[in-house]
Amino acid sequence: MKGVILAGGTGTRLHPLTRITNKHLLPIYDRPMISYAIEALVSAGINEMMLVTGGTHAGEFLRLLGSGHDHGIDRLSYGYQDRPGGIAEALGLAEHFIGDEPVLVMLADNIVEHTFRPTVERFAHQGQGARILLSQESDPVHLRHLGVPEFDDQQRIRRIHEKPDDPPSQYAVTGIYCYSPDVFEVIGALVPSGRGELEITDVNNYYVERGAMEYDVLQGFWGDAGESIDAYYVVNDFVRQHGANKG
Ligand code: DAU
Repeated sequence: MKGVILAGGTGTRLHPLTRITNKHLLPIYDRPMISYAIEALVSAGINEMMLVTGGTHAGEFLRLLGSGHDHGIDRLSYGYQDRPGGIAEALGLAEHFIGDEPVLVMLADNIVEHTFRPTVERFAHQGQGARILLSQESDPVHLRHLGVPEFDDQQRIRRIHEKPDDPPSQYAVTGIYCYSPDVFEVIGALVPSGRGELEITDVNNYYVERGAMEYDVLQGFWGDAGESIDAYYVVNDFVRQHGANKG
């Protein structure tokens, strides 16, 4: 299984900090944010990956990560997204790198307390479709900023709602997704949303509608450090006290 880490976008919710650098280069405790996503994939057993970024600071990622060998990566490729056209568009840039292998995708502003290696292993057995990680979240105000699954009577996902006014459950869809290689055909058929982006939630709902979406619930802390400046500091405080990507 190969990995894709997405570190493009504009980071407007962290302005003015992100006027002078890429969001994923801001510090989380003692390291740049991107280091945690790299470490998360390596600790999940993935050592071939592509980092997709954009904007004016792409060179800094090369300076930080180089060949990736110092970080336990066998093969690190880089992709450049010309415009922030959405998470699914950024993933589409990895099509040739991934080829006909399954892929784990991680948004580089997501931080986890524990490794998601078990999900990667379960997806290897699943062999097709998609698998996502959910995190329990009881605060409806927080859920309104995230993807939220609606469940049926069998606790299967019926639909994912992106930033719902009225969250249909107490779970957030994290930015950690496993897909079979047909995801690139799904992305190719997407139409831009109202905000002009190719949405990862539309990709996920494609698999939901075909009964091909499975999920796991993440244990321990999960944070989206790009959600707001307050969320950024919640993640910083947590990592400083408890660490991240633990086995
Ligand atoms: O963090 C989890 C949430 O991430 C999910 O609950 C939502 O369903 C999902 O849509 C996403 O929501 P966000 O509002 O957090 O997405 P955002 O636009 O902040 O993008 C998240 C990351 O994706 C960002 O850190 C970098 C990458 N990205 C984003 C865009 C729009 C790109 O690489 N290119 C892009 O064009």
